[in-house]
Amino acid sequence: MAHPFRAPNTPVFRASTVLFDSIAHLDAIHRANREGDHGPKMYGTFGTPTTDALSAAVLAAEGGTGVVFAPSGLGAVAVALLTVVRSGAHLLVPDNVYGPTRELCDKTLRRLGVETEYYDPMVGAGIVHLLKDSTCAVLLESPGSFTFEVQDVPAISRSIRAMGHPATIVIDNAWGSPGLFRPLDHGVDISVIPLTKYWGGHADLLLGAVVANATSWNALHQTAVALGSCTNGDEAYLATRGARSVEIRLREHERSGLAVATWLREHHRVGEVLHVAFPECPGHEVWRRDFAGSNGLFAFRLLAPTGAAATTSEVALFVDRLVQTGAFGLGYSWGGFESLVMPAVLPGGANITRTVSTKPLENLVRLHIGLEPVERLLAALKHALD
Ligand SMILES: Cc1ncc(COP(=O)(O)O)c(C=O)c1O
Repeated sequence: MAHPFRAPNTPVFRASTVLFDSIAHLDAIHRANREGDHGPKMYGTFGTPTTDALSAAVLAAEGGTGVVFAPSGLGAVAVALLTVVRSGAHLLVPDNVYGPTRELCDKTLRRLGVETEYYDPMVGAGIVHLLKDSTCAVLLESPGSFTFEVQDVPAISRSIRAMGHPATIVIDNAWGSPGLFRPLDHGVDISVIPLTKYWGGHADLLLGAVVANATSWNALHQTAVALGSCTNGDEAYLATRGARSVEIRLREHERSGLAVATWLREHHRVGEVLHVAFPECPGHEVWRRDFAGSNGLFAFRLLAPTGAAATTSEVALFVDRLVQTGAFGLGYSWGGFESLVMPAVLPGGANITRTVSTKPLENLVRLHIGLEPVERLLAALKHALD
């Protein structure tokens, strides 16, 4: 007797149309899909067996009641925020938020009548003093983009809940996923995961997930359906395959990242090293308490040969020399197998904006440490710094 063909991975399904046997069959699936059921689908945007396999992997890693997808991590941030905002509402956003999220708040959400207020990411339980009756949500991002402040997520969520405020707590868990931080276990309602980063792991896919707890799942699902937010079989397949090895890859990113950060710390042209595992990183103690480890993403401050903070052109010279070694790429999207460098400020303008913090940004350089041999990376850094 012939064996049925079985493969360990769910294959790539491509479908817009889904076919039904009868009106009764369609009617049952139609109702279930509207209610956010993860079972059989009525339309390609609701998912396929390929995206279902990814949903299972994401929910296993992140916890939560349900997950929806978006074509990128930024798209997932937009779906999460559009779930919680309404015209006339007040939104609290950390000052160190991912730059394009700030743009989304300052332009698109403002146009819709949402007032965004930026807050010090180290505010902790003090967040309650910023809440208004009209506050619809508090966005978190921990550690924050480029400056790596670790937020006290449990203190923030506990204090909001203790005063009985209904604000939804949303986090961009780009750095902490998968497995380094599980926000829903710490009182967060909605977690955004750019699967583009470590989940994909090979710099070749764009995909975002949004996970919600039972309180926020219906609203999130309804918004994603209304927006037609979804992904395709190829991206979902690659992200699910990435999930098989991400834990092992992360351990290597962590080991190499720590080795490079430790080496940099001793170099005379390096000031502060903003790596969560070092006490000088704001929120280091919170990271030790709440996170399972670190990854390959951190930043440092470049010093001029005189010991003063490096200027934008000195940073540009360093980055160009580093990129010329071939060991580091100059690019934005971290989390892949390859090492990357990115300055906070370019000669023509800043990559990041701060409106609460007054700390200088000019000499800040972000590194993503990939899976290459550490010795090769250190030799390249030594060449560029000396
Ligand atoms: C913190 C953070 N959030 C969201 C994103 C967006 O992810 P994507 O590149 O998939 O749009 C990024 C990308 O760098 C990020 O660093």
